Amino acid sequence: MPLIKTKKELDQKLKSLSPSKKLGLVPTMGALHNGHVALVEKAVLENDVVVVSIFVNPTQFNNTEDLKKYPRDLFKDLELIESINSDILVFAPTVEEIYDENVSAKKYDFNGLDKVMEGEFRDDHFNGVGTIVEQLFDIVKPDNAYFGEKDFQQLQIIRKLVKTQNLAVNIVPCPIVREKNGLAMSSRNERLSTEVRLKAGFIYRTLQTAKRKFGTKSALKIREWVKNQFLKEGDFTLEYFEIADIETLNPLKRKVKNKKYRAFIAVYADDVRLIDNIALN
Ligand code: PAJ
Repeated sequence: MPLIKTKKELDQKLKSLSPSKKLGLVPTMGALHNGHVALVEKAVLENDVVVVSIFVNPTQFNNTEDLKKYPRDLFKDLELIESINSDILVFAPTVEEIYDENVSAKKYDFNGLDKVMEGEFRDDHFNGVGTIVEQLFDIVKPDNAYFGEKDFQQLQIIRKLVKTQNLAVNIVPCPIVREKNGLAMSSRNERLSTEVRLKAGFIYRTLQTAKRKFGTKSALKIREWVKNQFLKEGDFTLEYFEIADIETLNPLKRKVKNKKYRAFIAVYADDVRLIDNIALN
């Protein structure tokens, strides 16, 4: 399976393809699991050529410990991708290849989408995501790019990026893939103890109950209820729970007919940070 390390190599490879071929891109940070696999399989179905990028992007980490601890296993990732389809092009550049000497993020105006939830607790995170994704779009020039709803805020920010930068790429959202107990799959789950990983189905169960309550209770009441659930739960610490409009990501104050809402959650289990979300209507 072709493993490509440099932009130049990738550019040459892509230029050798017929322009009529549909090109799909799946950006990842590696440590691949079945959530990523679902994105890659969808991309393979919908395109003639698929590029999977594997790059742990330093500019989207605001915590150097988190960056250091981020799981990396290129060999295992390549085996997994090969098992899906051996024609997939894997682009796994070094930090120098992407950033040269200047490992910093561009500043974007995401119209406030980056200021709430993940943005509030992870300073500059989305500028880092925007910087790498824009660069990947520029290198690969995909027709379709695949993003998981697991990172719903990221998905909305990428859509905003495409709109404001006028990029000719179709963003394809993909549903959240979960472990048997409901825990959203994540590369970080590997860092949980077996016991806590099993118990972590609690996070999704809480979201499901919040969804049931959404029909009859106010956002304020649901927020209080979720907070209380976590106060009773020793293994997990709630960082935030928010119900937000899916377009603006602003916290819900009063429900408006025809608007769509989602509940978003971030939780610590030991020092591992987990996020999840659920559509409410
Ligand atoms: P990473 O966390 O590796 O995720 C890569 C893609 O897989 C993202 O679009 C993410 O939403 C999706 N994904 C992860 N877990 C999923 C799950 N359980 N179900 C469905 N999709 C899932 O997100 C990033 O990397 C980075 O921020 C990136 C976009 C690559 C930029 O560096």
